[in-house]
Amino acid sequence: MCGIVGYIGDRQAYPIILNGLKRLEYRGYDSAGVALLNGDIQIYKKKGKVSVLEEYAADKDVTSKMGMGHTRWATHGAPSDENSHPHLSMSGNFAIIHNGIIENYATLKKELLSRGYSFKSATDTEVLANLIEDFYINNNISAAEAVRIALNNVVGAYGLVIICKDEPEKLIVARRGSPIAIGVGDGEYIIASDATPIVEHTNDVIYLNDDEIAVVTKNSHTVMNLHNVLQTPHIQRVEMELEALEKGGYDHFMQKEIFEQPRSIADSIRGRINPETKSVWLGGLVDVREQLRDAKRFILVACGTSWHAALVGEYLFEEYARIPVEVEYASEFRYRNPIIEKGDVVIAISQSGETADTMAAIHIAKEKGALVLGICNVVGSSIPRATHAGVYIHAGPEIGVASTKAFTSQVAALAMMSLYIGDLKGTSTPTSREVVKELIQIPEKVRRTLELNTELIQISEIFKDATNFLYLGRGYNFPVALEGALKLKEISYIHAEGYPAAEMKHGPIALIDENMPVVFIATKDEYYEKVVSNLQEVAARKGRVIAIVTEGDTVVKNLAEFVIEIPETAHSLVPLLAVIPLQLLSYHIAVMRGCNVDQPRNLAKSVTVE
Ligand code: G6P
Repeated sequence: MCGIVGYIGDRQAYPIILNGLKRLEYRGYDSAGVALLNGDIQIYKKKGKVSVLEEYAADKDVTSKMGMGHTRWATHGAPSDENSHPHLSMSGNFAIIHNGIIENYATLKKELLSRGYSFKSATDTEVLANLIEDFYINNNISAAEAVRIALNNVVGAYGLVIICKDEPEKLIVARRGSPIAIGVGDGEYIIASDATPIVEHTNDVIYLNDDEIAVVTKNSHTVMNLHNVLQTPHIQRVEMELEALEKGGYDHFMQKEIFEQPRSIADSIRGRINPETKSVWLGGLVDVREQLRDAKRFILVACGTSWHAALVGEYLFEEYARIPVEVEYASEFRYRNPIIEKGDVVIAISQSGETADTMAAIHIAKEKGALVLGICNVVGSSIPRATHAGVYIHAGPEIGVASTKAFTSQVAALAMMSLYIGDLKGTSTPTSREVVKELIQIPEKVRRTLELNTELIQISEIFKDATNFLYLGRGYNFPVALEGALKLKEISYIHAEGYPAAEMKHGPIALIDENMPVVFIATKDEYYEKVVSNLQEVAARKGRVIAIVTEGDTVVKNLAEFVIEIPETAHSLVPLLAVIPLQLLSYHIAVMRGCNVDQPRNLAKSVTVE
């Protein structure tokens, strides 16, 4: 949520910042802006995408060896040129970019107004700029010290980069709740809200911790906490292939990420499965083996697509590890004073590892004494650092805002975890051992499922103008129905609902008429007959049925208008295949409707505010 880039060194800052903003645009795309220091602070900012800013600044003087840029996802103040970042303090001495929310901004603004400050924007960020300026002017202190004191007066979340005209040789950086990575180059630093704009310049990265401030010159960095105590930052090596950040011949990142799934799932399971012993090895959980074996209950917390993966996890853990599971929206869990007892294990699932609500849920669970695990994609992100242990899904960078390959890798990780804990607890059965083996076949079966692309283009053409969609499934396929509906509404803006197929009778059936497309996931499992009955109920009411079935199915063929056949696999692994045609369906419909697939309106990839 909001992308941040800063540069200080001997090269021209603007092209580096602009390129960084393009890489970060998936974090927010309401508006973009840069501040460059060359004697004076020059600010160029525009409502709209980074390309609008680029065009606007094309004939401007952008000479500078230090500066910062921002791509915004609006919180306070509608998207507009004025509300775009960077913001200047009233005197123009401080320029600031900010990711997060200053919750007590109204009180602070009132105070500053009474002291004669005026404001150009409706943002909380401009309030912070003037608060820093106020401490700076009245106390005769350094810019960094003014920032530190100001931040001690602020309630809320922030990732910040600040330039002070009076102290032109430094960038001041701070973090609470919103990630900040500092790339350490040779005589230069690149600062960003995640490592993606950094890795093309350097692989050495410092991840700032909450409540830390860094002062960065072109040759040095100093990190202190909000109490002015010097910290020893840890420089981490971040390995990220540059081509993983490019579209690689595809039209959209989402399309690339859908088609990458045979590889991303293979990467998630690589080195973790032993086909001879039919067992799973998860190095990240070794130290907590006993606690997992003795666990009384698992609470899975997540948001969005990760929450759907958690629902699949519920079925997996109950089946293979025989542990009671609760699945919680992190945003609900955190405010409910949840009951955590001895033996409870909280598992946070998050692609980005940065989602604010999921982070808050982790803090609460830790406070209450739970063992807290993470299942994350982004290495070095906040959640893996805040949890006791965990599993990386290794899906590679996911740039498309709508999550695809992270979902399948999360499900693969949850499947492995449930089988691993099943072994620890002695609940494994010959059937569950076969599932371990079957997991190895999944990447190839996903590849075959992707061959359905042409069929899905044809179906998309027929349904692209629909105004509603229903997605129905039972058991392991219920979360898949939810995920299919979410994908469609996120990127094509068609209203879609996912439901447990049997629940349809208790409401959604009233919606069915000859205009309602209904996607059934009706693969061969213990629910098959029941789902077929539900499907008949829809067909009888003239609903237009699109069914995802197991290869060779003959029964549904006679009932559904369209049938998509996916390879057979273990019933618990069906979500890994069944979700693929649903991803493709929403992708093609969105493209046909002319929607911006990678950057759907109002959404952001990583939601670092609550
Ligand atoms: C946002 C994204 C979703 C994602 C959700 C949770 O809403 O647009 O794609 O599923 O956040 O994000 P996380 O990084 O925690 O998985």
